[in-house]
Amino acid sequence: MTMGNESKTAGTFLPAQSGLNGELRVPGDKSVSHRALLLGAVNSGPVVVTGFLRAADTLATLRAVRALGVRVDEDGERLVVHGQGWEGLQEPEDVIDVGNSGTLIRLLPGLVAGRGFLCVLTGDASIRRRPMDRVLRPLAAMGVQVAGRQGNTLPPITVRGQALRGITYRLPVASAQVKSCLLLAGLQAEGETTLLEPSASRDHTERLLSHAGAPVRREPCPKGEVVVQVERAAELRLSNVQVPGDFSSAAFFVVAALLVPNSCVRLLEVGLNPTRTGLLSVLERMGAQVGVEVTDKSGPEPRGNVVAYSSELVATSIEEGEVPLLIDELPLFLLAAARARGTSRLRGAAELRTKESDRLRAMSIFLRSLGVQVTEYPDGLDVVGRPEGWESGNMKTEGDHRLAMVGAVAGAASRGGVVVDDLACIAVSYPGFLEAYESLGGTCLRGS
Ligand code: S3P
Repeated sequence: MTMGNESKTAGTFLPAQSGLNGELRVPGDKSVSHRALLLGAVNSGPVVVTGFLRAADTLATLRAVRALGVRVDEDGERLVVHGQGWEGLQEPEDVIDVGNSGTLIRLLPGLVAGRGFLCVLTGDASIRRRPMDRVLRPLAAMGVQVAGRQGNTLPPITVRGQALRGITYRLPVASAQVKSCLLLAGLQAEGETTLLEPSASRDHTERLLSHAGAPVRREPCPKGEVVVQVERAAELRLSNVQVPGDFSSAAFFVVAALLVPNSCVRLLEVGLNPTRTGLLSVLERMGAQVGVEVTDKSGPEPRGNVVAYSSELVATSIEEGEVPLLIDELPLFLLAAARARGTSRLRGAAELRTKESDRLRAMSIFLRSLGVQVTEYPDGLDVVGRPEGWESGNMKTEGDHRLAMVGAVAGAASRGGVVVDDLACIAVSYPGFLEAYESLGGTCLRGS
């Protein structure tokens, strides 16, 4: 995606010859920032949010809650969301544009599902290709009137809120976005809403709802399934939300430090929710030298510091049950696999084809451009690592922010540099990424 008036600018990421070294504080967690605003919007009374991520995706959520009639005062990364309960939401006067944000277009229909008004949602070209039936179908079963393009499967979508009834629903794929949408609707429904997930996905919504005093329960079951239940909550009682640093943003520098010789990078105050840090367990299996120090367990989201050193890696395999725990870090895993000794396997990851881009396809094209041998499957890749390193490569991002940053990491770890076709899309989740990269010793030549 190209942001605002910025044109698509390419960049060349050069080898980091002296290594990557230093300390960084990454911006606030994207998932928690969205949820702080959305729950704050229906809270009974004001919520102070600190560490809010000011990036394109979360600023779209800020505009959306304002369009629903909620006052939000801004002071940099500190927000005050003046929620006035469920009844405080008003019908938006216009279409809500979510930009590139999948989380916003999946969660907002749940938030307005029990209100008696019409809400129309659309987004950029990437959003208009992303499946919406996964939330519209269960919302319809709860009683919401829904519609969408292509037989209710694609945005733009419309949602007309109704009186809701709780449902029992088995999610076809583990998805925190679908689960969160239905939990938000369940808070407004008659009776209990019971959701069965095939495996654990990120649980930020459950944690924040418990913190707000809502009746939500989450229980692991045999075979990795998880049951989440919620009942009607007339009132949410949040007073403040402290957003930790985004593990997904920190992950780029963790992998960069591993792959670039003579590196040591320390990431400070990062969110360490175990449903987000699956990459660390995978990297440890690969022999990575990574240390974690939890500094704060007092809030709903644990946080701490992560330190990573240059490492020699060995291949590993990832199966379906582990995928949701590192869903957004899988492109980075594939990059690490491309430097590991042996053949790494990723399976059960067909969901990667429905993200901001088809990340399996895009990563196999990119890794081949680096001279890495890759076999593509419908739900994963085999990657034959090259511990001896790569010469140079080309990342075609398809406007996908995470792919642009993977290209930057690959460039630092290459011998001849990596060209990334679009730097502007990075602002979707990590404005300031290039400055952070350069502060550690990386070099980016801007311009096409
Ligand atoms: C998110 C959930 C994940 C993730 C996305 C953010 C969230 O999507 O990929 O970047 O904030 O709930 P799915 O739930 O569709 O896997």
